[in-house]
Order: sequence, then C-alpha cells, then structure tokens
Amino acid sequence: MTIVNVTTPQQEHEFIIDTVAIIGLGLIGGSLAKSLRENGVARHVIGFDRRPDELKQGLALGVIDESATSLTLAVEHADVVVMAVPVGAVENVLSQINTSFKRGAILTDVGSVKGCFVDAVNNAFATVPDQNRPIVIPGHPIAGSEKSGVSAANASLFVQHKVILTPILSTGAAEFEALGLIRRMWERCGAVVLEMSVDHHDDVLAATSHLPHLIAFSLVDTLAGEGDSREIFKYAAGGFRDFTRIASSDPVMWSDIFISNRDSTLKVLDRFADDLAALRQAIDNEDSKTLLGVFTRAKAARDHFGKILSGQAYTTTMNTENVIFKLKPGGEVNGTIRVAGDKSMSHRSIMLGSLADGVTEVEGFLEGEDSLATLQAFRDMGVVIEGPDEGRVKIYGVGVNGLKQPPGALYLGNSGTAMRLFAGLLAGQAFDTELTGDESLSKRPMERVAAPLREMGAVIETAEQGRPPMKIKGGSPLKGMHYDMPMASAQVKSCVLLAGLYASGETSVTEPAPTRDHTERMLNGFGYPVVREGATASLSGGGSLTATKIDVPADISSAAFFLVAASITPGAKLTIQHVGMNPTRVGVINILRAMGGNIEISNETVVGGEPVADLTVCYSPLKGINIPEDQVPLAIDEFPVLFIAAACAEGKTVLTGAEELRVKESDRIQVMADGLKAVGVETLVTPDGIEIEGQQIQGGTVDSHGDHRIAMAFAVASLRANADITINDCANVATSFPNFVALAGQVGIQISVA
Ligand code: S3P
Repeated sequence: MTIVNVTTPQQEHEFIIDTVAIIGLGLIGGSLAKSLRENGVARHVIGFDRRPDELKQGLALGVIDESATSLTLAVEHADVVVMAVPVGAVENVLSQINTSFKRGAILTDVGSVKGCFVDAVNNAFATVPDQNRPIVIPGHPIAGSEKSGVSAANASLFVQHKVILTPILSTGAAEFEALGLIRRMWERCGAVVLEMSVDHHDDVLAATSHLPHLIAFSLVDTLAGEGDSREIFKYAAGGFRDFTRIASSDPVMWSDIFISNRDSTLKVLDRFADDLAALRQAIDNEDSKTLLGVFTRAKAARDHFGKILSGQAYTTTMNTENVIFKLKPGGEVNGTIRVAGDKSMSHRSIMLGSLADGVTEVEGFLEGEDSLATLQAFRDMGVVIEGPDEGRVKIYGVGVNGLKQPPGALYLGNSGTAMRLFAGLLAGQAFDTELTGDESLSKRPMERVAAPLREMGAVIETAEQGRPPMKIKGGSPLKGMHYDMPMASAQVKSCVLLAGLYASGETSVTEPAPTRDHTERMLNGFGYPVVREGATASLSGGGSLTATKIDVPADISSAAFFLVAASITPGAKLTIQHVGMNPTRVGVINILRAMGGNIEISNETVVGGEPVADLTVCYSPLKGINIPEDQVPLAIDEFPVLFIAAACAEGKTVLTGAEELRVKESDRIQVMADGLKAVGVETLVTPDGIEIEGQQIQGGTVDSHGDHRIAMAFAVASLRANADITINDCANVATSFPNFVALAGQVGIQISVA
C-alpha cells in the first residue's frame, strides 16, 4: 500500500462506514469514492484498479484515501466492497477474492444489469461456506455521462439521481441492516434510493437505458457509413446531436451490458423493431393518420413525463405540489369574462368522438386534468387525437367496435365522471381493462355502476366496499335492460346508456329526478337515437355514431363561482359569456335568484343542441331560503359556493335531500362545514344537508381536502371576509378550472398562489 490521504476531523463524526473498498476506478467507481470522501460517509476509502495509472491518478486527485496494490489487499479490511468493474468482469474478479472478505462485510455493485451480477456472485462463491460469504446487496445508480475514467470522477454525480437496490429476498436481520446501510450510503451522496426485484430492474433498464443506447450507436454508425458522412455531420446540429449524445459512451461497457442483459433487451428490441417497421409502412403508404397517432401519443407522453412519473393525469397548467391559495379580504368583481369549457361535455365529446365513424372536431374543450385524463385514455386505446390546442381537438373516430386494448391500467386521475362512464363503455368491449384513479377517486363508490352493469351481463370486480380499481372482463355479452336508478345520478344513467350501445335489444333508465342530460343530447347529435319519455331515456344497442362538430360552451359549474362572487360583493357587475344553459344544469341560477340574486340572461342561442347565453350578475343583498329539493340535482356541483352565498345572506338557508354531496370529490357537506367553521361561520350539519345562518366571515386557514370546488368556493368567500384566508391543497383546481386563479385575479379577487 502507498500514500494515505488525511480526512478532516469535522467529517469524522458523520461516518457511517469505517472502510469502503472500490474495485474499479472508472467514472462511477471514482465518483462514488469521491462522493463518499467529500460527504464524510466513510472514514477510509481504498481503491483498486487493474490499470496502475488510473489508480495513481485517483490518489493524486483525492478520489481515494489509499490505493491498494492487489485485490486481496483492497478487500480484506473493508466493511463495504463496491464492485465497479464492467458487468462482464465481475465473476472473474470475485473468484479471485472469494475467500478474502472480512466477516460480515457487505458486497454491493454499480452495474447496469442485476441478473448477471447475482449469477456472477453465485458462481464465484459456490464453494465458499455461507458464514464466510459477504452479504450481497446489488445496486445500480442511474447516473453517468458519456465521459469515462477516474479523471472524470464527480462527487455530485449522484445528487438527485436514482439508485436502485435489488436486494435478494432474505429475512435475516443482518441482511436487513446491510440494506439500510447501503441505502444510507447512497442517500448521503445525494441519491434517491428505490428498491425493486432483480428481474424487474433488468426489464425496466432494457427499455429505458439499454435500448436508447443501442439506437444511438446504431444510428450514428449507419450515418457515418453513408457516402459522404462529413456532409451529414456538418449539418447535424440540434436533433442529431441531442439524440446521439450517448453514442460516445464506453463501447466495451455497453457491449458487455447487452450480452449480460440479453433476454430483456431482445424482448424490448423486438417490440421496437415491429413498431419501426409499422412506421416505415405508414410512410410508404402515405398514411398520415398512423404517423399522427404515433406522434401525438408520443408527444403527450413526453410532454407530461413528470406527471406520468408521479402517477398524475395530464396538464401543464398547475403542478401537483401543495398549491396554497392566499387571499386578502375584500376586493372587487367587475368586467367581462369567459370561463373554462364544460367538463361534462368535454368528457363526452372525446368519448363519443372516439366511437364515431369519421373525424370529430371540438372547440372550447376544457383543458383540465379530468377531461385530459379521458383524452389520454382513448389515446391509450388506439384513438388518434390531435390537440388540445387552445380548446381545439380533432378526434379520428374508430367506430363503436374499433377500440384496442390499452397497454396497462387506464389512470383517470380525480375524475369520477370518467371512471363511471368508462365502466359502461368498456363493459361491452372484447378486451379486459382496469380503471384506476388518485387518492380521492380511489375512495369513491363504484358499486352504483358495477351493480347495474352486472345485471346486463358484465363481469366487473371492484376493490373492497365497491371502490376502485375496477377490473372489467372483456368479451362478456351484454343484454339490454330497464334500470330504475335508485339515486339521481347522471353518471350512473350515462354509464348504463353507454353500455346499452353494446347490448342486445333496448336499454332504458328511469331517473328519480331530472339529472344532466348531455349523454342523451350528444348521442342524438352523433346521429344515435335516444328516446326520452318522461323520466325515462332509452336506446337500442348495435347502432353507429357519425362524427360531428362540437362547440363546448363555458361550464356553468365554473361560472357559478363568479355568479356568487358578484352577488355577494357590493358594487359588483360582471358578465360571463357563452355559458351552457342546459335546463338540467341551471339550478344555481334558480337558487341564487330565489335568494334575491340579480342575474340577467342575454344573447340566448342554441349551439350544437345545447342552449347557451351570456349572464350578467350585479351585487344584490341575499336572503336565506329553504332550497327546494327538486333543484338539488340541477345544482349538484354548485353547493360548495352556494354555501358561501348562504353565509353572506341574511337569515337561514336550509339544504335537505343532498346526501349525494357526501360522495363527491370529498364529503362536501362535512368539508364545507369544517372550512366554514375555520373562517368563523358556525353551521348545523344534517345527514342529507346543512343549515347555514348568515354571519360575518372571518379570516382563517381552510383545508380543501384536495377538492377543487371547495378550494374555489373559499377563494370567493374572501370577498366578504374581514381578514386573510389561506386555502391548502388546491392543486386539483386544475381538474376543472385550470385558469381559475388568473380569472379570479382579473375580476378583482385578491388571490395569489404560494
Ligand atoms: C357529472 C354528473 C354529476 C356531477 C359531476 C359530473 C356528469 O355527478 O357531480 O361533476 O358529467 O355526468 P352525479 O351524476 O353522480 O351526481
């Protein structure tokens, strides 16, 4: 052994390992050694490399404390031995030191393939008694660079990078402790540590790392072999340069990786080769629809990488961190605005457009997370959809029987509408599907749709208590039926009617009270006859839909926040343009007018079978009322903000017959009561409603429980508060009203986002 570097006393107290041996001082081994030293993770870092120059340089650069002259000398006193040699060399190296490990030492590695590391360990230690073997914790830092060698060692290489540990199943306490230690070792180097099985790791890495390297090497080689390659490289800025950066990675290491991970790389390479051949065919056939399909799906996936990784749906407007609304008390409500597109119609435009024959063009589409989740789900089922681009979407319908099995579970984010309508649509498909959602959606009742669908012949599994995920078996023949719906729910009605498209004979639904009828109207708009007689809607299965143009009006449920905002703010005058005025949705106008609200309706027209109008609202003192129960389904989404109107009214407002509010994105009766209490407004909660006495709203901190409409309702409450209001957990406002904060600020609400 040669020179020994000195560690500073200040690092001493932070050491979690005494001696680490790094075998192989390449970029990764060198960077780990340097990081362990600089972060004071190990007291002593010994390096070994079969290239004496690298070793010398490692010591000179302060990458290691000590250079070992032989493998045995490197490992015999080490508590942790890190194999950082090429994956193909591991077995040979380990065989030379299989009896040199200290008792209880840990052996880990940094290789890109885990299956072959485990095989190499098994072979190298085959003849060594158990008690003399090290504890093995395979590891793989997902970090690197096209540079190689110890001179490129970088102590920050692992900061914010993932390290995957693939512990081999064992119940021993020593193994468990060793795993914890290796985890902490990487975390102290700044890495984020994950665990997965060896096989899973090798499949995932084949797809995300090995295949891209193969393609980069291959593309550069192909082009470099072209007649005048200088010409190609001269003009190959931008795309070529970005795409092929990794082709200057270490060739020996990479050829090793492909041989070591042969099976997993071949699997994904074959899939890619098939898809590439299909693209070639599409170009040859001048088939722009296929090209567009691939490109739009890929663009959506790439643009929303972050969201996909966090298991979220698709929007770029807001993020998923704890968005907090901060509101100053008071403010104005003036001007002319148009609020976001109707959520119910946006969902249905994608669903019906996808099932139609021909190309459907949509305008005014809501680019909120809920409807974007529906859009992405249809892309996952093979539908080519262009956009959305400023509310414009173009859907290349595949016909009623043209959907393809999605590659995995369909993730529907926060959207109950998507999940319930999808259940009906998918019950009659030839393929199996699984529907999942976020934390809120995963708690919502799905038995209300599963039960009638099962009566029609569907095979559906839900999790306990009828909650998501929903697993729907394909190929189950459906038969039409009559369903007497126990609750007033447009989602349940729509689900059964959509299943009816695939059922033999007639399917009809009778509702206990009128609920929104967009499904019926829009099916008719797509040329699919739906008959309405009294409270019953019916259709016959086996028909087809014809593509159409759809103009989605502004969502009255989003307009509601501004209707109340203007109604409760002295001096307010606000016009909201092009609002959908479907008679099954206007409960909020009826209720506000009954409370004394001043709302004028103008410019009434009918667009695509839906009434639309401009609404002008002026301040007017409100009074408490008993809300008529027949208005409840017509204003089902507007109650959070109507409760704010009630708190600002003179006298008592009583709501009954509204138990459905308890199974929305949150229990909207309880969560509103808690929020109102937090801002000084006492209420009386009943099983199916609430009593609210008008009183002064104070300042306070409200928890929206991730419910978009609760968050927006309390933003409106600030207009009449006497101190600041803070609202937590507001990210989900992006599900229905992505530009709410901007519009609220524009009219004069004093809102900011923390
Ligand atoms: C919706 C129906 C309503 C509503 C939801 C959208 C729809 O739910 O709350 O926001 O688009 O069909 P229910 O029908 O379950 O009341």
